[in-house]
Amino acid sequence: MAISAKMKNFVANGSMIRKMFEEGARLKALYGAEKVFDFSLGNPNVPPPDVFKTTLKAVVEADEPDLHSYMPNAGLPAARAAIAARLRAEQNVDVQAENVVVSCGAAGALNIVFKALLEPGDEVLVSAPYFVEYRFIADNHGGVLKVVPTKADFSLDLLALEAAMGPKTKIVLINTPNNPTGKIYSAESLKALAAAMKRRGREYDRSIYLVSDEPYRKLAYDGAEVASPLANCDDSIVVTSYSKELSLPGERIGFAAVNPAAEDAKDIVAALSLANRILGFVNAPSLMQKVIARLIDQEGQDRGLPACVDVSIYQRKRDILAHGLRAAGYEFFMPEGAFYLFPKIPVPEDEKFLDLLKEENILVVPGSGFGAPGYFRIAYCVDDATILGALPGFTRVIEKAKTLSKA
Ligand SMILES: Cc1ncc(COP(=O)(O)O)c(C=O)c1O
Repeated sequence: MAISAKMKNFVANGSMIRKMFEEGARLKALYGAEKVFDFSLGNPNVPPPDVFKTTLKAVVEADEPDLHSYMPNAGLPAARAAIAARLRAEQNVDVQAENVVVSCGAAGALNIVFKALLEPGDEVLVSAPYFVEYRFIADNHGGVLKVVPTKADFSLDLLALEAAMGPKTKIVLINTPNNPTGKIYSAESLKALAAAMKRRGREYDRSIYLVSDEPYRKLAYDGAEVASPLANCDDSIVVTSYSKELSLPGERIGFAAVNPAAEDAKDIVAALSLANRILGFVNAPSLMQKVIARLIDQEGQDRGLPACVDVSIYQRKRDILAHGLRAAGYEFFMPEGAFYLFPKIPVPEDEKFLDLLKEENILVVPGSGFGAPGYFRIAYCVDDATILGALPGFTRVIEKAKTLSKA
């Protein structure tokens, strides 16, 4: 066999999200795009802010000699400094340029952090529902994902998390605002989690690091605050990107920021920098690093806010969808951020229900892919017309599913 047994298994059980996305493409070719309601992929449909486009043009026109060069492993000094300044201003933490490593998106940042921290067999503790790719990324670096369910309202189950921390736990991984639930974890829960990690770390004589994956930090609704892990936990590392807040997932730009108070912070940054070079991406793209450095300098010029997509657009989409689903009888927790809604499957048979949605040309992702069977994810980063067009189908399906389930 050409490919390894492990990859064969990964391919067979690979990302449900991508599978649904491909199914969407097939159905669109068959029936026409306007007849297919594709909620499978978290691909932002709100355009990047105008200030991004003008900054990109200015950087290209300035044509600095190192525009297309290799660069320091940790990123361009101007980008690292600008990112650190933004973190200091927004999260009231003393992060400096030397604590920041610019990465190829949040996924690149997760890979360099896991590469830097994990010994083979070390555990990465995560709360379910969780982002599907965590298991693959942990495995990339010899780590093992250990899953603990959240509470019914998708908040962190702190007692269960503490009980699950063992001698092999190296990382507690959180994602807030959360994909797929839209939940934002409170500052109190982060503080309590940090205290639990300290207690268990002392017991096992090792540091346990909080890794906070937060590409949706800026996409918070109704004025919700997203608590800072850096401000609430010393042994913490933030990984994030501009994929969602600036709608740039194809540009592969993000960063990891290590809390200066973390145990061995300097060594961790050194390891992240090397990992950034040797994992195959050989640093984040230099053009985008220059754009980000300039963009952050322009903070405040645009509506008094840091450059960001217009979050009210996603909030409106959430409200249209939530209103329609609630009227149809679906049960769900109202998302506080990100652009996903995670309703309960209203009947015991998940597959039957998802098949009924597919018959209506509605594509969603089963919760089992996120470690939460009995739910499904709707990525509502789509046109309003797609949401409105799908609502009658969602209504027909819940009625049909309940009748079939009783039969
Ligand atoms: C929770 C979460 N983490 C990480 C990523 C990867 O983001 P990026 O495009 O910045 O690599 C995503 C992408 O959807 C995500 O939802």
